[in-house]
Amino acid sequence: MMKAALIGALFCVFVSGSPSNQGPTAEKKYRNIQVLKGVPARNVPSIMRALNRALGVECVACHVQDKWDDESKPQFVTARKMFQMVKILSENQLAGTSGISCWTCHAGQTKPSRLPRPLLDQELARWPAELAKVSEGLKTTMSVYDVTLHVDCDYCHVATNWKSDEKPTYKMVARMNSMFKVFPQFMPPTARTQCWMCHKGSTEPKRRKPF
Ligand code: HEC
Ligand code: HEC
Ligand code: HEC
Ligand code: HEC
Repeated sequence: MMKAALIGALFCVFVSGSPSNQGPTAEKKYRNIQVLKGVPARNVPSIMRALNRALGVECVACHVQDKWDDESKPQFVTARKMFQMVKILSENQLAGTSGISCWTCHAGQTKPSRLPRPLLDQELARWPAELAKVSEGLKTTMSVYDVTLHVDCDYCHVATNWKSDEKPTYKMVARMNSMFKVFPQFMPPTARTQCWMCHKGSTEPKRRKPF
């Protein structure tokens, strides 16, 4: 029961204005349902169209034409893993946040965009003079955070006390970092992951195409 409700909630993200769970579930109507178990069957077509939009592809990117239950395309298998990943992150690291969808990372592309190098270079050039002695690694990480979220240092830090963990945004970083152990379990081995993948220059990752 709990599980079906959660998946249902997850897919409200895709299916705007979908009313309560009514009619047969997806697994009753279709032959090969694993990740959409408990979702109303009549929501499946709009979820599939949302996948097309999220990745910027046609149905045949994942499916063999007219053999919808066929699993032979690697993209089909990857898509299933991605569904599992979104569910696990939603239940754990992202619990209590506004959450993510396929659109959050993909935004209409099969390969999520990457942090633009020129923006990072501009940010590195603004590094505070009083912190000139810190390691290159720390300098890069902090500048990446600024660009990724489109914020300044004081979004996470208390001015004059860089060690303070007082701000909730500072504390959030550890939770965010812990997702990077989860990604490789579900992503293709060649996938390169970044904070930018979800945030894309915003503190609030998008869950659907802006209208
Ligand atoms: C990004 C990959 C992807 C795209 C694009 C996609 N699908 Fe799917 N589709 C899947 C996956 C994965 C499943 C299996 C869901 C599950 O395991 O619960 C599925 C399941 C289905 C099923 C149920 C098959 C069965 O008999 O069990 C149908 C029908 C379907 N898709 C149709 C479509 C149509 C039509 C489109 C285009 C509008 C589309 N899909 C686009 C990945 C995709
Ligand atoms: C946290 C970010 C993230 C989320 C959320 C996410 N993906 Fe992905 N996805 C990736 C990355 C990264 C890759 C690897 C891209 C590459 O090849 O470099 C990928 C690859 C894929 C591929 C293979 C594309 C190809 O043509 O090789 C499919 C299919 C896919 N994702 C489907 C989905 C679906 C469906 C969802 C939602 C259930 C989803 N993804 C959610 C990050 C994400
Ligand atoms: C998204 C939040 C965030 C932003 C934005 C951010 N930081 Fe940090 N900063 C952290 C966290 C968290 C740590 C603790 C180390 C870690 O997790 O990497 C840290 C550590 C540091 C430290 C080391 C403190 C120590 O322990 O001695 C310095 C110095 C620092 N940041 C400077 C900056 C500067 C300068 C900026 C802006 C250019 C910045 N940070 C932007 C979150 C942030
Ligand atoms: C899988 C997608 C994803 C990735 C990757 C990701 N985040 Fe987030 N992040 C989110 C979501 C979702 C929220 C919650 C936003 C909301 O509730 O509006 C969030 C929130 C935050 C917040 C709190 C924002 C606020 O104003 O409360 C910070 C800070 C943050 N992320 C930093 C990072 C950093 C730094 C990284 C890389 C180490 C990172 N995130 C990677 C999805 C992601």
